[in-house]
Amino acid sequence: MTSAASPPNGHVLLAVSGGIAAYKVPELVRQLGRAGHEVRCILTEAATRFVSPMVLQTLTGAPARSELFDAGEEGEISHIELADWADVVLVAPATADLLARMAGGLAGDLVSTVLLATRAPVLVAPAMNVNMWRHPATQRNLERLRERGVQVEGPEAGELACGWEGEGRMSDPTALAGRVGLMLGGHGWRGVGVLVTAGGTREPIDAVRAVTNRSSGKMGFAIAAEAARRGAEVVLVAGPCSLETPPGVRRVDVETALEMEAAVHESFESCHVAVMSAAVADFRPATPSERKIKKEDLAPGAGLRLELVPNPDILAGISARRGDRVVVGFAAESHDVIEAAKRKLARKACDLLVANDISRSDAGFDTDTNAVFLVSPGGQVEELPLLSKAEVAARLLDRIEKLRGVVR
Ligand code: PMT
Repeated sequence: MTSAASPPNGHVLLAVSGGIAAYKVPELVRQLGRAGHEVRCILTEAATRFVSPMVLQTLTGAPARSELFDAGEEGEISHIELADWADVVLVAPATADLLARMAGGLAGDLVSTVLLATRAPVLVAPAMNVNMWRHPATQRNLERLRERGVQVEGPEAGELACGWEGEGRMSDPTALAGRVGLMLGGHGWRGVGVLVTAGGTREPIDAVRAVTNRSSGKMGFAIAAEAARRGAEVVLVAGPCSLETPPGVRRVDVETALEMEAAVHESFESCHVAVMSAAVADFRPATPSERKIKKEDLAPGAGLRLELVPNPDILAGISARRGDRVVVGFAAESHDVIEAAKRKLARKACDLLVANDISRSDAGFDTDTNAVFLVSPGGQVEELPLLSKAEVAARLLDRIEKLRGVVR
């Protein structure tokens, strides 16, 4: 028997088990819906204590089932029909108990029965106390599930609701929605070359000192991660930073603006989309010393004069020869954000400029969140609310998708 015809972005069956992370499920449903997926929810009995089936029913427009033997619910759509309907099953949060039942092939309630019956790919998002996560029994169950092709996203490390610190937080809804999108075919990003720059550049003064800035790389790494999740072929040209390379991303480490320019030019030919989020130093010391400049070498009380010469404008350079590529720039502005961004967009001739207001303490350099305006050449401005950098990346890629004409 085959399942009913799928909509363009597929059927996602979201199985919710009973953990505190279930409070993120309504946001997850919203993000899956925004990505164009048709979503239905099923819950374990314990999950209904953390999130209301009525809320999920309202958000999805379909009954959120939790009973295996409810004649009314079975009459609407049977559990086997639900298992067949799914193009992907996402288990979020996946508790230690549910992972154990999945590993053991148990089918004592609606969720575990559907998970046993479905032939759709399954993604689990574990969430639990750090000691439960590290327990050999849980790790062995995960191993067994992975051997059977179940995919796993997270958990993340951090402060846990139970008061412990460590791995156990459910992955961010944006990350989960992105991973589901990838499992369903990546929304037309497959084979699309995406070039991203991230971090600040470091321009040497001498063997130990440098001119640099506060960019952590978080914004650019989030963009690279999201593009890779969607199935793009991503090259990330990164200034000095300590972030881990996102899965599926090819990273090229550079230090100076000149090195960044060379790396960007090397990958530009084969890319379709370039997103320049790096904070490139506009100037570099004219004659960096190979040796450490010593105070004793200077006249007593004398200062050190640095002559700075301009660095090439990498973004303007690639915009000038972009052909049919989409080129996106960033702008870090502390005042008159939109007007300054419009002038910068015109000067650099890119297709979209992402302006962040760095006068805010929760946006711009070295923060986990960002508040940006998307400024178009026609003068249109879209303001995004304060979001995690992962979510800014997702919204930006949605916009680029439209610019490329690969709208779902
Ligand atoms: O790395 P994070 O800590 O997460 O911080 C993110 C960020 C604040 C660095 C990022 O969101 C951002 O705003 N990046 C651009 C910062 C910046 O240097 O803006 P700008 O106004 O100086 O440059 C404008 C654009 O031209 C940028 O796309 C920049 O990459 C590019 N540029 C600038 C100078 C230069 N010589 N070559 C360039 O290509």
